[in-house]
Amino acid sequence: MQITITRPDDWHLHLRDGAAMAAVLPHSARQFARAIVMPNLRPPVTTVAVAGAYRARILAALPQGVSFAPLMTLYLTDSTPPEEIRRAAASGFVHAVKLYPAGATTNSDSGVSDIGRCAAVLAVMEECGLPLLVHGEVTDPAIDVFDREKVFIERILQPLLLRHPRIRLVFEHITTSDAADFVRDCGDNVAATITAHHLLYNRNAIFAGGIRPHHYCLPVLKREQHRQALLGAATSGNPKFFLGTDSAPHSQASKEAACGCAGCYTAAAALELYAEAFESMAALDRLEAFASFHGADFHRLPRNAGKITLRQEEWLLPTAFAYADGEALVPLRAGERLRWRLLD
Ligand code: NCD
Ligand code: ZN
Repeated sequence: MQITITRPDDWHLHLRDGAAMAAVLPHSARQFARAIVMPNLRPPVTTVAVAGAYRARILAALPQGVSFAPLMTLYLTDSTPPEEIRRAAASGFVHAVKLYPAGATTNSDSGVSDIGRCAAVLAVMEECGLPLLVHGEVTDPAIDVFDREKVFIERILQPLLLRHPRIRLVFEHITTSDAADFVRDCGDNVAATITAHHLLYNRNAIFAGGIRPHHYCLPVLKREQHRQALLGAATSGNPKFFLGTDSAPHSQASKEAACGCAGCYTAAAALELYAEAFESMAALDRLEAFASFHGADFHRLPRNAGKITLRQEEWLLPTAFAYADGEALVPLRAGERLRWRLLD
């Protein structure tokens, strides 16, 4: 059996930079026509000028003859000036602004410490229609790590949407039934991305027979009831939910460590993983809209013209890929069987 769908886009991707980027970019470019590229480099991508230079490096690193459009984002800080948002909206290549609560995840130290300080910036985004992409977790150490997304909705997201009711907002990599319900109940200006790993795994995967660093990402995997809610949302046909891998490469040494980095590397077989999730719900007929239509429509971009084909055929994902500086990159499902295969 095989399915052919419109070529999809990845609405949340970490490409890194330099040799690391060169190692992972071909994987995404083979699967997707476009991707929203996260700005959490070191230092972060906080201006249109820096985003433009990063975009040029991505385009220069693409293998010959491969077409792939990086859609750039700006990293919001406490001191982002409103004029930078206007420049971004006018640039034609910055497609969104990313909100990382300071300290929430990898390279988020310069993120927003108090969203109240961003009121002027958010007002300009509301006016220009530039989407805000939100890492939705509170950083309060008193809040249980498994509750941080739910508490973020109450403490940050609801008040933000009351103050800026027309802002176009993507609640990124949602992991809970609370987030899925919240997004469903908001207006059309609020949408969400869902990763393949949050559709396929619950939190037991982090501790199966020992600690499994390659199943550790942020927001962390949740209980099975939440995974079921995400599967329901992704396969519902509701245009508010769309594909965003959050593929987040880290070297094997930095994952398999006493204090391992957060992030699952899924770009090499992302569509195969999503197909497996949709197949588990007998909803393969809904994959195309989730992967190829809803995100483009929300971001007001044309849907892609090309097609891709997935065949039901078991194969083994490599145990590792080459990464920067002679290091290895271990993908999610390393050395394990995949049920679907993306044809060239
Ligand atoms: C991301 C990374 O490594 O950049 N990690 C992750 O676990 N998803 C950061 C992020 O998106 O939270
Ligand atoms: Zn991410």
